Amino acid sequence: MSLKLSAAAPKAAEADVLALLVSHEGWAAQAQAQLGGDFGVGLVELAQAEGFEGRPGQQFTAPSFGALSARRVLLLGIGDEALPHDMIKDVGGRAAKAAASTRATSLAVWAAWEGGALGADAARAAALVGEGMALGAYRFDRYMSVKEGETPRRLTSFALLAGDHGAALDGVVARTEALVAGVLLARDLGNEPPQVCTPDYLADAGRRLAEAHGFEAVILDRAQIDAKGMNLLSAVGRGSDIGPRFIHLKYTGAGEIGRRLAFVGKGVTFDTGGYSLKISGSMVGMHLDMCGAAAVFGAAETIGRLAPAGVEIHFIVPTASNMVSAGAFTVNEIIRGYGGKTVEITNTDAEGRLLLADALAYASELGVDEIVDLATLTGACVVALGEQYSGLFSNDDAMAGRITAASKAAGERMWHMPLDAKLRDKLKSPVADMKNACTDRWGGAITAALFLKEWIGDKRWTHLDIAGPAFLENDSPIGQKGASGVGVATLVGYTLGT
Ligand code: BES
Ligand code: MN
Ligand code: ZN
Repeated sequence: MSLKLSAAAPKAAEADVLALLVSHEGWAAQAQAQLGGDFGVGLVELAQAEGFEGRPGQQFTAPSFGALSARRVLLLGIGDEALPHDMIKDVGGRAAKAAASTRATSLAVWAAWEGGALGADAARAAALVGEGMALGAYRFDRYMSVKEGETPRRLTSFALLAGDHGAALDGVVARTEALVAGVLLARDLGNEPPQVCTPDYLADAGRRLAEAHGFEAVILDRAQIDAKGMNLLSAVGRGSDIGPRFIHLKYTGAGEIGRRLAFVGKGVTFDTGGYSLKISGSMVGMHLDMCGAAAVFGAAETIGRLAPAGVEIHFIVPTASNMVSAGAFTVNEIIRGYGGKTVEITNTDAEGRLLLADALAYASELGVDEIVDLATLTGACVVALGEQYSGLFSNDDAMAGRITAASKAAGERMWHMPLDAKLRDKLKSPVADMKNACTDRWGGAITAALFLKEWIGDKRWTHLDIAGPAFLENDSPIGQKGASGVGVATLVGYTLGT
C-alpha cells in the first residue's frame, strides 16, 4: 500500500480513477471547476440525468475518454452537514470499492478538505479519507486459488490531491500509512485460520514486531507460565498441544517518559468453549476470538513506526487455544490466578476473562499509569449494544471520557457501560474467591467486566468488550467480512493524544 500527497490538479492526476468528493449544494459547480471544459459540462449533465445530487452515499462514475489523465472519474456525494468521523472514513472506503470494481490499481481523490461535510480540520479529514481508502481496498485472499492466465489486480496506490492545502496536510501521509499498517496487521492476524494463527504464531508475530521496532520482548512458554503462577492462562491452554504463550512487548519513547500505558488483548486463537462446549453454530468464527490481541499488536505496529516521544507502552497478549482433550480443564476446578485470588471454574467457555485476569494482574505490576484491555469477551455485549459498538467499562470516569473521545476522533464506536458493584454478588462462589461465570445470563457483559476488575488492583483501567465490532458479518465500505481491526485506531489516537 502506498499513500501520497499530490499537488496535481484533478485533471492531471496520474491514477486509474479520479474521485471527487462533492457536496449537495453546488456539486455541479465543484465538479465542473475540477474537470473543466466540455468534458466537465457533459459529465455533470449525465450525472444530473441519472439522479446524482451530491447527497451522502450517492455515487456516479463515467469513463474519461482521454479528457483526464485518469481513465475514469467517480463523483461521490458527501452532502453538506458535518459527517461523523466514521462516515468520513466510509467515504474513502466507498471510493476504493468503486475503483477496485473497475480493476483500478491506483486512485486519486480530490476534496475541498475543509468545511461542510468534512468539518473544519483539513488534516483530519484527509487522514480519515486516506485511511478509509486503504482499508476499503483490503482483501484477505491469500487462500484463494488464482485461475491460470489471470493476473489478480490490486488497488494499492492512493493519492490525496491536496490543492492549496499542501502545508496543512503535511504529516497526514506518514501517520495514516502507519495507522493503516497497524489495522491491516490486526485484520490479517484475525483472518488467518485457526490452524495457522495459533498461540505460537502470535508469539512469532510478537517477536517480529520486537525485531522491527526495537521493543523489549518477554515471551513465556507453558513451563514458564506455570513457573510464574499464571495458572488461569495455563488452565485455558491445557487442552491444546500448542501454547499457551504469554507475550509482553515494551516500547520506550525518546526523552523523558511522562506517560506509561499498558494495552492488553485477549488472544484466544480458537474458542470451542472447552468442555462447556459451544453448539456448532456458535463455534463458527471463533478463530476471531484473538481480535483483542490483534488490536494490541496492530497498535504496536503503528506506534513502532511513529515512535512517539515521552511515552512507555506495554503491549501484552495472553494467548491460548480453548480446546477439548483428555487434559483440558474442567468445571469445578479451583485455580489460583497470578494476582493471588482463587477462581472456581463454573464454565470453561468463560475463558477470556481467565487469561486476561493473569495478564491484568501482571500489567498492574509494571508501574503503569493506565491499563486498557480489549477482548471479544461476551456475546451479551453484542446483545446489549449491537454489532457496531464496543462496550466500554472503566473504574475511572475521566479515563472513560478520554477513551470515548479518542474513539470518536478515530471513527470507532464505543459506549460507556456501568461497572455496577451491585452485580458483583453474582460472581460469589461458596468454595473460592469468585467463580468465573454466573448462573444467569443477565448483565453478562457487566459481570465479565466485574470479574476483570478483581485483578487490576488500584490501577486506572478501561475494558473494551469488542465482541460486536471485531467481526464484520458482511462487507462494509471500509471492510470485508471477517476481522475489522477495530481498536487499533482508538489505541493509537489515545496514545498520541489526538
Ligand atoms: N469468545 C466468547 C464471546 C463471544 C461470543 C464473542 C460471540 C463474539 C461472539 C467468550 O469466550 C464466551 O464464550 N463468552 C460466553 C460467556 C458465558 C459462558 C458466561 C458467552 O458470551 O456466552
Ligand atoms: Mn468462550
Ligand atoms: Zn472466547
